[in-house]
Amino acid sequence: MKVLAINSSPRMDKGNTAVILNPFLDGMKEVGADVELFYTKKLNINPCQGEFDCWLKTPGECFQKDDMEIVRPKIFDADVWVLATPLYVDGMTGPMKNLIDRIVPGLQPFFELRDDHIRHPGRGEDKQRKMVLVSTCGFWELDNFDALVVHVTAICKNANMEFAGALLRPHGSALSRMIQMGAPVQDVLTAATEAGRQLVQEGRMSPDTLSTVSRELLPRDTYIQMANQRFQQALDAVEKK
Ligand SMILES: Cc1cc2nc3c(=O)[nH]c(=O)nc-3n(C[C@H](O)[C@H](O)[C@H](O)COP(=O)(O)O)c2cc1C
Repeated sequence: MKVLAINSSPRMDKGNTAVILNPFLDGMKEVGADVELFYTKKLNINPCQGEFDCWLKTPGECFQKDDMEIVRPKIFDADVWVLATPLYVDGMTGPMKNLIDRIVPGLQPFFELRDDHIRHPGRGEDKQRKMVLVSTCGFWELDNFDALVVHVTAICKNANMEFAGALLRPHGSALSRMIQMGAPVQDVLTAATEAGRQLVQEGRMSPDTLSTVSRELLPRDTYIQMANQRFQQALDAVEKK
């Protein structure tokens, strides 16, 4: 199984998204998946210019010669895509959206009906790919991810992929801090690894495993207090300088 993971956190390996993504990918590797990870921050991917040259003038080829030349063939070669993104204003990051828009040359311009919707046929091999979403956010409630999950589900329908589920980590910054403090949160990381194994071995991730990834880490009031204290300390430190 070939897995292409894209982490669009500008904080890359030091970010909260990586705290969930990395054990998930480790779980997939443990059971034999061939995993490749890209960080959008290290890639030079321009936004789509909307000219449709890739459909009508140079079919399958974008006129923009940037790092999408490296990523696009890997995307179409992969059996599983893992989109990892921090939640930015209720959605995915800009660089992640730019990358997704740039897969359009992999589609043909023609319309066809699929599941009673107009869609574009792909080019080349018609393999059944899966997509997994990994996301972390700063607010406490799990429903902050609702709009992102709806968006990614729609992308899967549009691109003829199976949405295999999401590893969602609300109050994500608390997890990093609790790990540093030695708090009992190992089950969350173990569940992320287990989800990776399950996806490769069983083709699905169990709802129980995914809900452990998202479980409450601390009461909301405590989180608000701790976060506000930290913000105040940071601001006080700036004032003292
Ligand atoms: C520009 C920006 C927008 C954000 N918007 C939201 C938001 O709408 N909801 C939320 O819960 N967190 C929001 N956050 C917080 C991040 O989602 C959160 O800190 C995340 O864990 C960061 O992941 P990273 O460390 O991997 O980059 C935002 C952060 C930034 C920088």
